Amino acid sequence: MAKKRILSGMRPSGRLHLGNYAGALENWVKLQDEFDCFYFVADWHALTTNPAAAFEVEENTYNMIIDWLAVGINPENPIFIQSKVKEHAELHLIFSMLITTARLERNPTLKEQVRDLNTENMIYGHLGYPVLQAADILMYKANVVPVGEDQAPHVEITREIARKFNQTYGEVFPEPETRLTTFSRLPGLDGRKMGKSNNNFILLSDPEEEIRKKVRTAVTDPQKVRRNDPGHPDVCNVFTYHQKFNPDEVPQIRKDCESGVLGCVDCKNNCAAKIAAYFEPVRERRSHYEQHPDEVQDIVRSGLKKAKTVAEATMDEVHRAMRMG
Ligand code: TRP
Repeated sequence: MAKKRILSGMRPSGRLHLGNYAGALENWVKLQDEFDCFYFVADWHALTTNPAAAFEVEENTYNMIIDWLAVGINPENPIFIQSKVKEHAELHLIFSMLITTARLERNPTLKEQVRDLNTENMIYGHLGYPVLQAADILMYKANVVPVGEDQAPHVEITREIARKFNQTYGEVFPEPETRLTTFSRLPGLDGRKMGKSNNNFILLSDPEEEIRKKVRTAVTDPQKVRRNDPGHPDVCNVFTYHQKFNPDEVPQIRKDCESGVLGCVDCKNNCAAKIAAYFEPVRERRSHYEQHPDEVQDIVRSGLKKAKTVAEATMDEVHRAMRMG
């Protein structure tokens, strides 16, 4: 039986951090055996909140793709860049006739973003963000879309657009299902969500010394002031990192923290060493690709070719169904 198809994407944010890894990338790697996976860089989406982001897209795309390869995304699978497949733009246009503005304004993810951006003036393309996402997904007739919770409303809109297209023009698109990434939301060094804009992140590519420096600044249990004070691991960010990257020692660390035997400085040094070791193979693979940029180019070129083939076939079907285009 043919494998079911997965499609997922990320906006180009440059070098990725541990939050991106725990929240999405680790899952992408795992899904590769079971599914036919298409992974792409949503670079047009990056413009919806800041059109000037265009100038950083190329470098950020390159750095992000290297991180994908470094964590073990299989280069045999199509890895490609949205803006190189112009069909996405055409399908987006066609889909934009199949949904109302009222429906798009009800999108909770959009509301949240607009609140965060602190602006009255929403960009037209931002309202259509999920419509472009629907084009990304349906172009490849993906069956399953692995995303974080915040993206689930966009997959729901995708399903509605697929239904509307099929009703209007005839059966072309399957309705994809959402696969929520088992949300191990990793806290940042300060306890807020790990993110570039919060400046509380550890990069997959950070060298050991840098990781050590960053972990040293991490917020721990505020009640553990002196080394021998009993700690509360369940409110400590460093303990969360141990759970993720150093699971074997977790029972011992809990015991020694709670009893006051283990001080935060030692605990942090140990944690940094474990994170560094965990990502050592990733750093090695990254440095391989950094030294062989031509290999990365080849991977992206062949990914584009595979994506294009599917996109052209889908657009043929779309044109025939619409008797237009
Ligand atoms: N909106 C997604 C995000 O910010 C990125 C994205 C764009 C995407 N198109 C997609 C994800 C299609 C899955 C499928 O994370």
